[in-house]
Amino acid sequence: MKILTITSAKGGVGKTTVTKALALALLRLTGRPIFAVDLDPQNALALHMGIDPREQRGLARSSLAGDDWSETCFVQRTGVHILPYGALTDEDRITLEEQIHANPKWLIDHLRGLNLPDNALVLVDTPPGPSVYGRQALSVAEWVVVVTLADAASYATLPLMQRMLNTYCNARPDFRNTLFVLNQVDSTRQLSKDVLKVFREEAGEHFVGVIHSDASVPEALASGISVLDHAPESQASHDVIACATTIAREMGVLDVSNMLGAHIKQSITV
Ligand SMILES: Nc1ncnc2c1ncn2[C@@H]1O[C@H](COP(=O)(O)OP(=O)(O)OP(=O)(O)O)[C@@H](O)[C@H]1O
Ligand SMILES: [Mg+2]
Repeated sequence: MKILTITSAKGGVGKTTVTKALALALLRLTGRPIFAVDLDPQNALALHMGIDPREQRGLARSSLAGDDWSETCFVQRTGVHILPYGALTDEDRITLEEQIHANPKWLIDHLRGLNLPDNALVLVDTPPGPSVYGRQALSVAEWVVVVTLADAASYATLPLMQRMLNTYCNARPDFRNTLFVLNQVDSTRQLSKDVLKVFREEAGEHFVGVIHSDASVPEALASGISVLDHAPESQASHDVIACATTIAREMGVLDVSNMLGAHIKQSITV
């Protein structure tokens, strides 16, 4: 199991969009089993992945009930596995967050409890900024993808992101690398081009690439499928494949592997 966490200090920059897009792109580029885990109480990944909005099951309820997460692992028609956060009452969410806070191994123990195949790739989507979920997701990640917008507000949050990375990732011997994706780039806007230039220079070899602002991205969200299938020839699809190829190469998983290994106990097709 290799773990990649998708994060940002600022909200609404496209973490969930990038998680969803990378999940399918990495599935197709690597042939490995992909598990997208949503650690955000907004439960948005489920919507992005086409799970019925009335669905309440998820890793949050399973955790509170003391159950294994395999009971709430959904599988998309594409083959991507999803562990949605699910729905909780506010009271239950507070209880869960206290439990997570008290147990720094909450996430890794649950991921290990899934008995995933050795070649599985786990993508963890997180809420923006500091949170109990983000701390755990950064603490188990071998690779982190930081998503940023090409604007001043997003750029200004990078020092906070760097502090979080220093605290939870950079000192760990098993941590591999931080990778930056610039999302919603608009090549017709000078500011967007300027931020891209500065960003490329500062991130250096950690810069993975850009995903342009593209109407096919929200359209794909509305139809509950990936932009790769909704609009395969769109700029965003080309960008996603390019970013995913760089990430797969960085993770050493670009070779196609059909060794699916053991299956998880239960999957619910959506
Ligand atoms: N490249 C893009 N082109 C056009 N729209 C985009 C692009 N990326 C993301 N969006 C849109 O931006 C909005 C926010 O995206 P998303 O929900 O993925 O952000 P987020 O970082 O996960 O938010 P949060 O911090 O609330 O979890 C969505 O409506 C999404 O469709
Ligand atoms: Mg999100």
